[in-house]
Amino acid sequence: MINSSMTVREVAIELPQSTRLFETLKLDYCCGGNRPLTEACASIGIEVGEVMGMLESVSQSEPQGNGAVDFQKLPLSELIAHILDTHHVFTKQEMTRLELLSKKVISAHGENHPELHKVGALFETLCADLKPHMFKEEQILFPYISALASASLENSAAPFAPFGTVNNPIRMMMMEHDAAGEILRELRTVTSDYRTPSDGCISYHTLYEALEAFEKDLHQHIHLENNILFPRAIELETRMTA
Ligand SMILES: [Fe+2]
Ligand SMILES: [Fe+2]
Repeated sequence: MINSSMTVREVAIELPQSTRLFETLKLDYCCGGNRPLTEACASIGIEVGEVMGMLESVSQSEPQGNGAVDFQKLPLSELIAHILDTHHVFTKQEMTRLELLSKKVISAHGENHPELHKVGALFETLCADLKPHMFKEEQILFPYISALASASLENSAAPFAPFGTVNNPIRMMMMEHDAAGEILRELRTVTSDYRTPSDGCISYHTLYEALEAFEKDLHQHIHLENNILFPRAIELETRMTA
């Protein structure tokens, strides 16, 4: 049951459909999700009661179990497969496409809209951060968590962790998520909430629309890692090495 003293993160876990509402309200549920709902609502100038009402209708209109996956209960290997197949694949595809598209838009409109140069630079930094970040998850952290989950199913010992404990790479990944979240916030500011200027062409509009969709997907991606996968991996490792 949702109540206003829960943190945004707790609401997002309990009611996965709420993340769509949080996106619309621009209410941070991934990196900055550790704040009580009341405080988070105050920071965006909305009455918590109003948001509670919206959450109520979200939960009624889209009941849990109606196609919505409960990521808390999904086996860890399936959760990882979902993150890779849905979010890593999308992020990589979009990084390639949008790096090219942003160059095209900058060359056509950069003179009249100098903020586009900042958009291009921010997106470039974001991609340069995300590529090695996802590589580390794919090559080191996720295989370890999968091995941990298989060992637990087979009742065997926890696999060898070259990094000591899973807390160490997780701490690093979360710091990198914070940095990505900060770049997303800057992009939103520089683009005035992704509003295409009246003289912007179709490519300009396509770029802003795609950047906003990229933001939304990355929020969901980071939420699944920070709030669901990582705590579950830490808990499992602690249990297996106790
Ligand atoms: Fe990831
Ligand atoms: Fe990540």
